[in-house]
Amino acid sequence: MEMPKKFLWGGATAANQYEGAYQTDGKGLSIADVEKGARHGVPREIHTQVMEGNYYPSHEAVDFYHHYKEDIALFAEMGFKCFRMSINWPRIFPQGDELQPNEAGLAFYDRVFDELHRYGIEPVVTLSHYETPLYLVQHYGSWRNRALIDFFARYCETVFRRYKGKVRYWMTFNEINETMNQSEPYHQAGVLFAEGEEHNAVKALVSHNMFLASAKAVQIGHAVDPENKIGCMIQYPTTYPRTCAPKDVLAQRFQMMPNYYYTDVMCRGHYTSLCTAQLRRMGTSVEMQPGDAELLAAGTVDYIAFSYYFSSVARATEDTDCCVERSNPYLQRTDWDWPIDPDGLRIALNELYDRYELPLFVVENGLGAIDTVEPDGSIQDDYRIRFLGSHIDALRQAIELDDVPVIGYTCWGPIDIISVGTGEMRKRYGFIYVDKKDDGSGTLARKKKKSFAWYKKVIASNGADT
Ligand code: BG6
Repeated sequence: MEMPKKFLWGGATAANQYEGAYQTDGKGLSIADVEKGARHGVPREIHTQVMEGNYYPSHEAVDFYHHYKEDIALFAEMGFKCFRMSINWPRIFPQGDELQPNEAGLAFYDRVFDELHRYGIEPVVTLSHYETPLYLVQHYGSWRNRALIDFFARYCETVFRRYKGKVRYWMTFNEINETMNQSEPYHQAGVLFAEGEEHNAVKALVSHNMFLASAKAVQIGHAVDPENKIGCMIQYPTTYPRTCAPKDVLAQRFQMMPNYYYTDVMCRGHYTSLCTAQLRRMGTSVEMQPGDAELLAAGTVDYIAFSYYFSSVARATEDTDCCVERSNPYLQRTDWDWPIDPDGLRIALNELYDRYELPLFVVENGLGAIDTVEPDGSIQDDYRIRFLGSHIDALRQAIELDDVPVIGYTCWGPIDIISVGTGEMRKRYGFIYVDKKDDGSGTLARKKKKSFAWYKKVIASNGADT
């Protein structure tokens, strides 16, 4: 298969890490707005409210809100065909449960989408990227509560109607599968466990409610505009058995089950045998209410979007049937200890397409690294060029040699933004450097790195010249 002529090359961001303006024009607080910055190996502190004297990275982030024209012009200069961003849910519904949206919030995204279209850049929009309104968490228990399904549906219907004709590619929940993988799914589902709560039961419950919300969003999105393409979004953790011992191979399968749990329901429209087995392994179940099965079946997604950063290794242990680790003697690691594995991306593309036969969209991939501004002002990020180049080569092999249909590729953080894991600025992904430090100081000035011209060349050659 040839590289598609209209392949969507671009970059990906999320409002809570990029936009800033956390209270401007009527925006409400999101779960990100009470999360402090930390550093590698140190968990981020989460508060119940904004407390004076604390630094919360999302409040200003790198201020896309006031720099969007400048940033989009730079993306256009690189030749972007698309740009992935999220709509900040509490910018549209500040509490989340209102009947009427916040017009100023809607108007902001109109300006952004219009600016993108001025350069022929297709917006690709995540409806929920770690930005659940804080009010819904505090007053409704977040996704534990089925009330959120309708709140989310109302929000989705509002933006589908408002941006009809301006946005065609949507995805529902960012990295929804991390709800099960994380010990506490705060980013994904707004959940911090209360004392005595049965963790696995809550994870299954919130996932079920998010599945229903996603299915509703898909149905509404298609009804508003049949041209809409609405995907699910997962983090794909390519995993290898540590050895060819059958127990290690089984461990690898067990390790992948919580991930396919999500794509199975969202792509196939029901809880498959893998899902019921996974629930059994977790010692819990899902309570289906009348109409749930029909809704899930009617709201399957059009494509699978996924992020890919690194691969892992699974092995069987004596006391548990699987254990995952990052150490792989065949792979080097990033400054943040993530194994570097371009072949893992090719494997991810093949595994997902083999399983679902749905178009794929690589919506995140990248290298978080410490960049140095040289005395002459340049930033020589050859390590980033090598990382992305090798992953783009693997992507092309999956398309050209393995015949996997891929819609596009948006690398993570084409401009430096806040890290979700640590809240740091020094973990930089961008082709564009932003003058801002971990303590929040800096001028926010933008500057091209060496990789800027490189990515421009990659796009101009449709991925051939890496
Ligand atoms: C993905 C998220 O998990 O990884 C992004 O969708 C995040 O929001 C990205 O930024 C990279 O992780 P980090 O911790 O380096 O920001």
